[in-house]
Amino acid sequence: MPTVLLGVSASISAYKAADLISQLKKKNYNVEVIMTKNSTAIIPALTLQVLSKNQVHLDVMEEATPTDINHIDLVKQADLFIIAPATANIIGKIANGIADDMLSTTALAVHDIPLLIAPAMNTYMYQHPAVQTNLNRLISYGYQVIEPKESLLACGDYGKGALADISDIITAIQELI
Ligand SMILES: Cc1cc2nc3c(=O)[nH]c(=O)nc-3n(C[C@H](O)[C@H](O)[C@H](O)COP(=O)(O)O)c2cc1C
Repeated sequence: MPTVLLGVSASISAYKAADLISQLKKKNYNVEVIMTKNSTAIIPALTLQVLSKNQVHLDVMEEATPTDINHIDLVKQADLFIIAPATANIIGKIANGIADDMLSTTALAVHDIPLLIAPAMNTYMYQHPAVQTNLNRLISYGYQVIEPKESLLACGDYGKGALADISDIITAIQELI
């Protein structure tokens, strides 16, 4: 059973991670979820734990098993790493080598597996040169970007920034595993 290591960050679309996990489980993937602390304000970790049938990883300093270093061991069992949804913040942190939480720390430890990132944010945030520069940097590191959609966004603005359809994210995962 291939393992998808899924990072969830605090976009309003984080609730869609529940559907993504549920569909991946139905397709027989093992899903290990890493959430940022902020994302748990949008969707509870318990929801993603129940759907993934695995404990959700939240805190880089929480080492449940004395013989394990969680952010390294998770990577060793993963067949693909994806962040969906990815905030401007997590994109910026990974692009610049910052490792100050469980998700960004794990992201820097990932190697030799396919890397996917699905940004979701306000259209003006998405267009910001800093975000675009960071995304291009991630592409140069080997990430494949699943482009956000143009739509009426949760904030009321219209433009490119909505999380890609879950079906498109699943297709991208299936193509790479
Ligand atoms: C209701 C709400 C919705 C948000 N939606 C987004 C979003 O879609 N994309 C984004 O980049 N930031 C969004 N933010 C801002 C991020 O949550 C904020 O930058 C946060 O620091 C990101 O933390 P994280 O990257 O550690 O999850 C939102 C904030 C709030 C309060």
